[in-house]
Amino acid sequence: MATLDQTAPPVAPPAELEPRMPPGPRLPRILQTAGFMLGSSPWFIEACRRRFGEAVTFQTLFDSQFVMVFSPALVKELFQGPGEQLRAGEANAMLGPVVGERSVLLLDGSEHLRHRRLMLPPFHGQRMHAFAEAMRRSADLEIDSWPVGQPFALLPSMQSLTLRVIMQAVFGYEPGPAEEDLRRRVREMVEPLARPRSMALLAALPMLVGREPRLNDLFASARRKVDEVLFAEIARRRALGDEALAASDDVFSALLLAEDEEGERLSDAEVRDELVTLLLAGHETTATGLAWCFDLLLHAPAVHARAAQSAKAPPSGAADPSNERYLDAVVKESLRLRPVIPGVGRVVRGEPFRLGEYVIPPGIEINPSIRVIHRREDIYPDPGAFRPERFLVEDPPDTYSWIPFGGGTRRCLGASFALLEMRIVLARVLERTALRAANPKPSKVQFRSITLAPRDGVQVIQDRPPGRRAQSVNPALAGQP
Ligand code: HEM
Repeated sequence: MATLDQTAPPVAPPAELEPRMPPGPRLPRILQTAGFMLGSSPWFIEACRRRFGEAVTFQTLFDSQFVMVFSPALVKELFQGPGEQLRAGEANAMLGPVVGERSVLLLDGSEHLRHRRLMLPPFHGQRMHAFAEAMRRSADLEIDSWPVGQPFALLPSMQSLTLRVIMQAVFGYEPGPAEEDLRRRVREMVEPLARPRSMALLAALPMLVGREPRLNDLFASARRKVDEVLFAEIARRRALGDEALAASDDVFSALLLAEDEEGERLSDAEVRDELVTLLLAGHETTATGLAWCFDLLLHAPAVHARAAQSAKAPPSGAADPSNERYLDAVVKESLRLRPVIPGVGRVVRGEPFRLGEYVIPPGIEINPSIRVIHRREDIYPDPGAFRPERFLVEDPPDTYSWIPFGGGTRRCLGASFALLEMRIVLARVLERTALRAANPKPSKVQFRSITLAPRDGVQVIQDRPPGRRAQSVNPALAGQP
């Protein structure tokens, strides 16, 4: 039997796994932090890429050492690496107080795969067609609420639109008092985090929730108000029984019924965490993406004209598929030029991870920089130009150079949903009304803890009242992206 003083000396790792970190700036951490936080463009990161290469080690006040990668080849190594060793859940830990510890966003390894398998089915295949109708109706409701002849901010309107859509998809709620009540509670929980400079609040949440009274007031009580409704609804639905749940086609019921290979279902706490995950991940991101898409479009007259023409094409089976493809390309190009999430993370655990010519030791986070990769001149010539045609060529950007939804086994679970929603809302707005930009220049990019949002919320003007609602969604626009 081993005793304490007989413990074997630590074994040195084989030479090929000796840590070899990429080079990086030697500036003090505070200055590197300022480089990340100041200005609306990633000029500091870009300058370091030019100076040090495709992988760079940084040090900030938020993280004493991490690596950013900028080349599709390194992104591919990362996205194809093993989930047990490259932990996205750990990299997302700061979201824990909001989404809960059992959220798919926070889990890693086999637990992550289990949740992901249980959650995926409702976001694929035929169900997506049912969601298309909810997206169209929500767009119509929003368009009908816009003022005529005076500027208004598009971002809040898009937030209300996308929250309504995700609530309908997840809960099956029709617009009405119950839906409005939960919508208000969710926005109260998200809003403090969606403000500028809320990064510090988000970083501090794991330490403060439950301990710091003011934060409890701000955030934890908002979270409790959401939980009250969710747990009551979980109990109500479970009481209905499997047959009734199976007859409903919303994601909530699908989550309650989903079984893993051992026949196990998600617990109440797990269902709560996944519901909040879908509500949060599914609306703020898509709303921001839509606001950017309109901002870019309204400042690019030729693209705007062609997109409007594509949207107004006859809503019949005879519709020209190139119209649908053009709107799809507008959405993709907009997510390239204005990615909503600036980067994703993977924390190395277990063995050191080989990344190109480097060996990254356990404990270090590796971040593909979405916004720098999306601006690479060698992949996207004239990268600052808004050019949907980039996605209409035979060989469009691949899954390691166009990465607004991350990638690998962690790729955004709602990517198809978001692309479909953005395309339908874009088409609906272009079809029914004519917006113009209230400001001559596009909005400035502002970092809001998780998202890169338009600083002024995208100010627009609708000169004339919108046209009447059409009867149904253009079938050409309701297909899978
Ligand atoms: C334009 C809109 C959206 C953007 C830009 C976006 C972006 C992302 C990104 C970058 C990730 C991390 C991926 C990675 O680590 O590799 C992610 C994860 C996720 N997203 Fe989205 N998202 C959007 C919309 C949605 C929607 C509509 C839903 C739900 C209906 C959703 C649900 C999720 C979930 C559940 C995850 C975690 C996946 C996992 O860890 O396995 N997202 N998203």
